[in-house]
Amino acid sequence: MYTFRLWFVLLITVLDSVDSYGYYREAIPNGESVPHPCKSNYIWKGVGHRLVEGGKSRNPFGMDFAAAEHKWTAELCNKDSDGDGITNGQELGDPDCVWSKDQIPSRTVNLSHPGVCEPWTDFKCKDQLNWVASTCEFEKFTCPGINDVEVKQKEIRFPITPVPSNETSYICMEFDLDTSDDFHLIATEALVNNSNVMHHAVLFGCASDDHDIKDTPHQCGMVASDECQQIMSIWVLGSAGQCFHDKVGFRIGNQGIKRVALQFHWNNPTLRNDYVDSSGMILYYTAKKRENDAGVLTIGAQYLHIPPFTTRVEDTSECPGSCTKHFITDKVYVVSAFNHMHYLGRSQQIQVFRNGTKIIDITNDVEYNYDSPVIHNQENPIELLPGDTLSTTCTFSSKNKAATTYFGDATSDEMCFGFITYYPRQNVMLDFCTSWKSLAFCHIAEYPEENPFKGCNFTTFGTLKDDENFKFTQIIPSCGNSSQVCSSECKSYVDTMFAHPCMVNNDLRDYFYTRWNYDPVGRELVQLLTTCYLQTTESPTTTDVNSSNGIHQMRILILIFVMFSIKLSC
Ligand SMILES: *[C@@H]1O[C@H](CO)[C@@H](O)[C@H](O)[C@H]1NC(C)=O
Ligand SMILES: *[C@@H]1O[C@H](CO)[C@@H](O)[C@H](O)[C@H]1NC(C)=O
Ligand SMILES: *[C@@H]1O[C@H](CO)[C@@H](O)[C@H](O)[C@H]1NC(C)=O
Ligand SMILES: *[C@@H]1O[C@H](CO)[C@@H](O)[C@H](O)[C@H]1NC(C)=O
Ligand SMILES: *[C@@H]1O[C@H](CO)[C@@H](O)[C@H](O)[C@H]1NC(C)=O
Ligand SMILES: *[C@@H]1O[C@H](CO)[C@@H](O)[C@H](O)[C@H]1NC(C)=O
Ligand SMILES: *[C@@H]1O[C@H](CO)[C@@H](O)[C@H](O)[C@H]1NC(C)=O
Repeated sequence: MYTFRLWFVLLITVLDSVDSYGYYREAIPNGESVPHPCKSNYIWKGVGHRLVEGGKSRNPFGMDFAAAEHKWTAELCNKDSDGDGITNGQELGDPDCVWSKDQIPSRTVNLSHPGVCEPWTDFKCKDQLNWVASTCEFEKFTCPGINDVEVKQKEIRFPITPVPSNETSYICMEFDLDTSDDFHLIATEALVNNSNVMHHAVLFGCASDDHDIKDTPHQCGMVASDECQQIMSIWVLGSAGQCFHDKVGFRIGNQGIKRVALQFHWNNPTLRNDYVDSSGMILYYTAKKRENDAGVLTIGAQYLHIPPFTTRVEDTSECPGSCTKHFITDKVYVVSAFNHMHYLGRSQQIQVFRNGTKIIDITNDVEYNYDSPVIHNQENPIELLPGDTLSTTCTFSSKNKAATTYFGDATSDEMCFGFITYYPRQNVMLDFCTSWKSLAFCHIAEYPEENPFKGCNFTTFGTLKDDENFKFTQIIPSCGNSSQVCSSECKSYVDTMFAHPCMVNNDLRDYFYTRWNYDPVGRELVQLLTTCYLQTTESPTTTDVNSSNGIHQMRILILIFVMFSIKLSC
């Protein structure tokens, strides 16, 4: 409870009224996208309030909005509430005052704040200087543990690196750690150099230190590399660093992690090509080790499908008890956790169920904010047992977005992940327990004996290998070219195939379609099945396998398989 105490206080003070804020934001144009006047990349959620997160006292726009009975009237739109010479309508992207609720505003970029006089340091804005200035300060890093005389520091930092003119870039660089002794990493502090682009940073531990040297910044995926995939610390917009619970540290040095990869997510939506960044992290570590080694477990969804213009889309994914009873070998304790979605994310909760009964929430963000995530530190760690089910529920709103949103790593894609820091690390055998629709990856990749779809072997079916129920090697010859008409011979193959235990469940079927679509023969098969089935009866499934995201998801799926196998072989 160190760094984020402030957020807890804010959260508690606004909890009674948060629900109404969401409602108010919907009553004004671009209400979810009002930028902070002095922190680029940040959204000012409590648009009518003096605090970014909302709060009792209103800013000038909030007062006018209340006087207009919380409606977007022509008078409110034409007024210049904050007195900076730009009307509320111009600031919020409705210069002609024609917007009404549930419409897309005529402009969704180049927005400014209707309740904060801008530029905020200008003489004309002097009356509001105090309350605005207090929101412009970045949080200071505080962590009592780092003041101990034994604590050493290592600064890891990117050289000055050009930021690509891409909306989203994931860039990684690896660093060697101090291996002169057996240490615990106890805190990390962010060194943000270019706050215009820095969105988040992840510190990954590498499994070995004897691979190709990658000591210059390079493009990478959501996981730094096959070798470096153990999450240790995360910095997100709005935080100053991570101060680990005083019972734990991440094992580094000659008995632990010897090399780390630092990954940045740069966000550059205006595609500027003149940005550079040289951000980094300070690692605080000590040879005076704490009681326990810490680990991070990632749970959540690897598949999301959010239709356009939808007020509320809910997704629940499970890390089931049938898996935790295998990979959690004894009691573990959660010391902190946090939720991760992107801009469509509205609320997220991680619940623990034991024998069918809910035990506790690990996180519960009623009002999720991508820019200022709450790290849920547990002064009294939460006990987890083998057999507990971890359930992650995310709600999204796409009411102002015209395109379908899928799972993916770009800021414009969505995510629903939970990151749980626990101890002791040696009691947990997996780093990831995520799911794809209703399928838990641990059933697919790790514990096939727990696979609820009896008779479906993911390995053989996924790789198109013949088994006792189905002969893949005969389907293409007997069906011929997928552009041809479906013959009766082919039809009987297709029918046999749809009766296979791997095809009887919609989610399973979509999973295999997505997986097959990744190779040329598989694509041919999917095409053939769809064509042949359509010619005889209604298609049994709707799937987005040929969207670019199908491929993208597959890349991540394969990554996850790689991750599972690495963890297993350690
Ligand atoms: C941005 O918005 C301001 C009013 O807020 C307007 O004067 C200006 O022309 C806009 N710029 C662009 C590029 O749309
Ligand atoms: C930037 O976008 C280009 C073109 O889409 C792509 O080839 C390149 O790999 C991207 N770079 C990064 C760092 O994401
Ligand atoms: C960013 O890094 C460069 C190079 O080290 C330095 O000159 C500059 O002052 C830094 N800017 C900030 C805001 O830290
Ligand atoms: C769940 O219930 C069974 C049967 O009552 C019991 O043996 C088991 O210990 C319980 N599991 C947990 C995690 O409490
Ligand atoms: C799946 O099939 C492969 C190859 O035939 C076999 O090695 C594996 O044991 C099977 N898995 C299960 C869970 O039956
Ligand atoms: C299928 O038929 C089309 C058109 O007749 C042809 O272009 C294509 O190469 C054929 N594909 C296969 C796999 O035979
Ligand atoms: C999938 O591909 C087919 C044929 O190329 C195309 O007609 C269809 O629109 C595509 N579907 C999607 C969701 O992209």
